[in-house]
Amino acid sequence: MCGIVAVIDSQPVKKTIIGGLKKIQYRGYDSAGVCFKSDLKLVTIKVKGSVAKLETELNGYDGEIAIGHTRWATHGQVCEKNAHPILSSDKNWAVVHNGIIENYKEIVDERTSEGECFFTDTDTEVISSLLSANDFEDNLRSVLWTCKQLKGSYAFCAINKSDNHVYAAKHKSPLYAFCDGKMSMFASDPICFPKGDYYKFEDDEICKMSKGKLEFFNFKGEKIKKTLQKYQNINSSADLNNFEHFMLKEIYETPDVLDRVCDVYEKLDLTALKKLKFSSVKLVGCGTAYHACLMGAEFFKRILNIDAEAVQASEFRYGKQIIGSHSLCVFVSQSGETADTIAALEKISKKKAKTLVITNVPHSTLSQMGDMHFSTCAGPEICVASTKAYCSQVVVLYLLTMALKSEKHFYQALRDVRKLSEQIQKFFINISPFAEEIAKHDKVFFIGKGIDYITALEGALKLKEISYINCNSFPAGELKHGVLALVDEGTPIIVVATDEKLYEKTMNSALEAKSRGGKLFVISSLLPQAYELKDFEMCMTLPKVPKLLRGVMAAIPLQLLSYKVCMIKGLNPDMPRNLAKSVTVE
Ligand code: AGP
Ligand code: GLU
Repeated sequence: MCGIVAVIDSQPVKKTIIGGLKKIQYRGYDSAGVCFKSDLKLVTIKVKGSVAKLETELNGYDGEIAIGHTRWATHGQVCEKNAHPILSSDKNWAVVHNGIIENYKEIVDERTSEGECFFTDTDTEVISSLLSANDFEDNLRSVLWTCKQLKGSYAFCAINKSDNHVYAAKHKSPLYAFCDGKMSMFASDPICFPKGDYYKFEDDEICKMSKGKLEFFNFKGEKIKKTLQKYQNINSSADLNNFEHFMLKEIYETPDVLDRVCDVYEKLDLTALKKLKFSSVKLVGCGTAYHACLMGAEFFKRILNIDAEAVQASEFRYGKQIIGSHSLCVFVSQSGETADTIAALEKISKKKAKTLVITNVPHSTLSQMGDMHFSTCAGPEICVASTKAYCSQVVVLYLLTMALKSEKHFYQALRDVRKLSEQIQKFFINISPFAEEIAKHDKVFFIGKGIDYITALEGALKLKEISYINCNSFPAGELKHGVLALVDEGTPIIVVATDEKLYEKTMNSALEAKSRGGKLFVISSLLPQAYELKDFEMCMTLPKVPKLLRGVMAAIPLQLLSYKVCMIKGLNPDMPRNLAKSVTVE
C-alpha cells in the first residue's frame, strides 16, 4: 500500500511533492521516488529508504509537473530499481501505482512476445508498458485503453513526456484530487492537500490534470461531473508537539481521546441504533482492530447475552459465514482503508445483514460504507503501532453495546469511560526497569484468561511489531497443552490478571511456567499478597476501573513497555521494518 502524490503548478513543485509524501509515509516507506517533467524529458530520482533520504537526493532537480511515490512493496524486492515512478521501456511514460495488478503475468507474457522488455520485478511496470503500447493521438485514450486491460486494484498517476498533463485512474485503491484554480494535485490521502475542498475518485474514474484544471471521465471516456467533498480539519494534531516519537505522543493522548469520545457520544442520536433487531453479531477487523473486535464480542455476549464472534477480515472473506437478516456485522478499522476489511464488507453487501462501521478517519473508504457509521474520534494516528485508536475502538464498542441495552446503561457507560480516562491520566508510570529486563530476551510469552487473554494478544502484537522480539500470547490454561515445552531458564512470561474471579487460575498456570524456569511479570488489578511477591520478577497493580474496561487500562502499560523496549533496542517505533500503517492491498 503505497502513497501517491502528483502536482502541476505554475511554480516548482518539489516542496509540495516532498511535503505530501512525508505525510503519507504511513502507507509505506520501503523506497521513494519522484519524476519531474522538464521540457520534453522525464527525470526520475528514486531511493531505497524514506522520503527524507529522497529529499537529500533532489538537489538541483525540480519542475512544474511531477509525480511522487512512497512504496510498500508487494511485487518485487525493496530496491531502487523497483521503486516507483516506473518508466516505460521507451521512456515516454512514468507511472506511480498503489495496488496490485492481478493479471500482470499474462500481460508481461503477451508484451514480451511482442518484443517488449521489462526492467523491474513489479506488477506496476505493466501499466507503463501498456500506456506506451498504443500510439493513440490522445494520451487520455491510452490511459482508458490501459485501464480496460488491468485486473486487480489500482490507483495510478501517469505522465507522458510529450504533453503537460498528469493522468490518474482509480479502481479499488483510494485516490483524491484537489484544484484551487492555480495548483492541482492528486494524492492517496487528502491530508496532502492545502486546506480546501477536494474531489474523491470513485471506482473506474479517470482524471486529466492540467495547469489549474481537472477533467473527470468514466471508463467509457465520457466526461463526468463531480461534487466537492467538504474539507475537514484532519491535519490538526499530526505533529510531534515536543515528543520524540508519535507513538509516545499518541499513548499520552489517550485520556483526551476518551473524553472526546464521551463528549461526542453524549450528544449522538442513537435512535437508529436502538431500533436494530438482531440475534447474532459478527465483528470484523485486522490486527489491533481485530483485538478490539474480540473485546466487542465479549461486550455483546456479557452485556446483551447475544451470540457474538470476532473474525479476522482476511479469514472472513474466504471462510463460511452464517449471516442473514438476523445478523449484525460490525467492521472496525482505524484507517478505514484496510483492503481485507473493505472486501469483507463487500462480501456480505448482498446479504440482508445490518452493517455497522467503526473507523477513525472520517473521509476513508469504509466510513462511506455500511448502514451506520460511528467514529472513534481519536484524531490522526501516525505511528504504525496503533495505541490510542485501539483504546477508543474498545471504548466505542462498549458505549454502543451499553446503548443497545438501555439508556440507563448508556449513561452509566459514559461515566465509566470518564473514570477510565481519569485513571489513565494518573497512570503514565515509569516502565523502564520492566523494559530493561524484557529487552534482554529474544522470546516473550503473554498469558491471560477471558478478557485478559485478549489484552495479552494485543500486548504481544504491540511488542513484536516494534521490538522484533518473538512474542506469543496464549490463554493461560493452554500453556500446559504444548507451549510449556518452549519455556526455559529465564523465559519472560507477562501475566495479565485483572479479573479477580480468574486470578487464582491464571496464577496456577503462571506458576507452572515459573517451575520450568520462567520469570513472571504480572499486571493485575489486585495488590499482590506478600507471599506471592517472591514468585514475581515484577508486579504492577492497575488502578480500579469497571471490569469490562480493564483491558483498556492494562493496554496502557503494555504499550509503554513496547515503546521503552523499542527505545532500548534503538529502533524506530513509528516506522517498524516491513510494515505500513494502512494495508490497502489484500
Ligand atoms: C496495529 O498496531 C497494527 N499496525 C495493525 O495490526 C493494524 O491494527 C491493522 O493493520 C488494521 O488496521 P486498521 O485498523 O487501519 O484497519
Ligand atoms: N504493487 C506495487 C509494488 O509492489 C504497488 C504496491 C502497493 O500499492 O502496495 O510496487
